[in-house]
Amino acid sequence: MPEILEAIPAYKAPPGGRLSDAMLADYQAAGVLVLEDFVPVEACERLRERALELVDEFDPQTVRHVFSTTKQTQLDDRYFHESGDKIRFFLEDDAFDDSGRLRQAKEHCLNKMGHAMHDLDPVFDAFSRTPELAAAVNRLGYEEPGIIQSMYIFKPPHIGGEVICHQDSTFIYTDPESCVGFWFALEDATLENGCMHFIPGAHKMPLKQRNYRREDGTFTIETIDDTPWPEDRKLAAEAKAGTLVIFDGRMPHLSGANHSDKSRHAYTLHVIDRRCHYPADNWLQRGPDMPLRGFI
Ligand code: FE2
Repeated sequence: MPEILEAIPAYKAPPGGRLSDAMLADYQAAGVLVLEDFVPVEACERLRERALELVDEFDPQTVRHVFSTTKQTQLDDRYFHESGDKIRFFLEDDAFDDSGRLRQAKEHCLNKMGHAMHDLDPVFDAFSRTPELAAAVNRLGYEEPGIIQSMYIFKPPHIGGEVICHQDSTFIYTDPESCVGFWFALEDATLENGCMHFIPGAHKMPLKQRNYRREDGTFTIETIDDTPWPEDRKLAAEAKAGTLVIFDGRMPHLSGANHSDKSRHAYTLHVIDRRCHYPADNWLQRGPDMPLRGFI
């Protein structure tokens, strides 16, 4: 078991996104780095507005697809598996009442939107490709980064579900491993509305699974290592809107359910090194019309 740290390293965002040597050293040790005020609050608001415009065009009665990390309903869901180069909507497990009606307003029933807004929508593209992000990714050592996935997380009031402990490299596997996550708080994330939790230092544990691996027309979960997470050492990462959290693809992380009356919108990007092999059996695939791009 690697050394588990007592704190998640946190800093004010560096000028121009140029991570300092101290930030990089902390990131290497902890596998996670919090950067406050990385994105102007106005940019967060613009992204939220755009997300809600896209939600307006979505009809939840015709597309009743749920995303749940506790029930794994997406394992058999083509709508999910074909979403790597599209903008698609996934509902909370508890979105509908017994009579089949949405429990609350449409945007308060969504779990997430994914997985290619950054390549398909100009507002998301502008948020995702900034000089500051390009500088940060460059400082992390990515010479040929590729933004493989974007997700808009709604974590709605009252029904926003928990996300169980996992590593993102189990979903976005490359050989050698290169996945890194960029998580942006678009609204204040608190213990009450289901903020992220990390186990700093535990990114040095083995890769646990290959998740949703394509195999003979179906999708499987392959267990590689079944060492339990030291979840008693998890630390909350409460975050003000505009905060960026960077975390290693092997970093175990989770978030609680949102039982509060406030939403907890967040946006994530997952970046890989384009020089690494991206397997054809990863669940997340994009068509030939959408080449993998970095930050320019
Ligand atoms: Fe994750």
